[in-house]
Amino acid sequence: MSDAAKPKPPQPRGRFITFEGGEGSGKSTQIQLLADRLNAAKLRTITTREPGGSAGAEIVRHLLLSGMAKAFGPETESLLFAAARDDHVNQVIEPALAQGTWVLCDRFTDSTRVYQGELGKVDPKLIRAMERVTIGSLKPDLTIILDVPVAVGMERALKRRGTAAPDRFEGEGVSFHEKLRDAYLKIANGDPQRCALVDADADPKTVAERVWKALRDHLFSVATTRETSQV
Ligand code: TMP
Repeated sequence: MSDAAKPKPPQPRGRFITFEGGEGSGKSTQIQLLADRLNAAKLRTITTREPGGSAGAEIVRHLLLSGMAKAFGPETESLLFAAARDDHVNQVIEPALAQGTWVLCDRFTDSTRVYQGELGKVDPKLIRAMERVTIGSLKPDLTIILDVPVAVGMERALKRRGTAAPDRFEGEGVSFHEKLRDAYLKIANGDPQRCALVDADADPKTVAERVWKALRDHLFSVATTRETSQV
């Protein structure tokens, strides 16, 4: 049999890594730094975000972050986040993982659990039910939770925003952001196998090293995977 006719070995599935944290925790910067590092290690990687990441979900993002949907209440907002997630998972995340591409996603289901669940008081049963519909058995291989003191995060977010108006959630007060931070710490402590809590109160390079260490500790602690030799 010629090489071309031989069946190809099955493509190893990509890894799914999500980044979470409050406003100004540095997710976008850290995602890009990690993507650069994985690409340099010849691991095909895409970066994406929620809400959004697919054409349909980006439309819903605009609806949500402009505050247009706020008047409908947190339950309806959570349905809209779920609708956006459903499209994003089907159109972007699942196909990429199936092709062996690593997916780095800025926010995912933990954001709904925290913002709509813990803060918006949406029934956790409804949140779990929506997760069953939108993501099924898809679970992040690793969730990096970037933790910064609220004052630091709010100052960074303000600097980044410049003169633009705050979005739907940036405009909330200090106590909202304190509760947000506590909710993320609770998630990190409750699921240490999936989640790595990273102290993000440092310069981007230092935080990137902490993220890298968390990734190695969580994904490559057993030296048996194909990727281990590459990174
Ligand atoms: P960001 O792109 O600046 O992180 O903004 C997204 C905002 O949307 C952020 O304030 C968190 C919020 N959000 C939710 O409330 N629920 C969700 O499920 C997701 C993905 C985001």
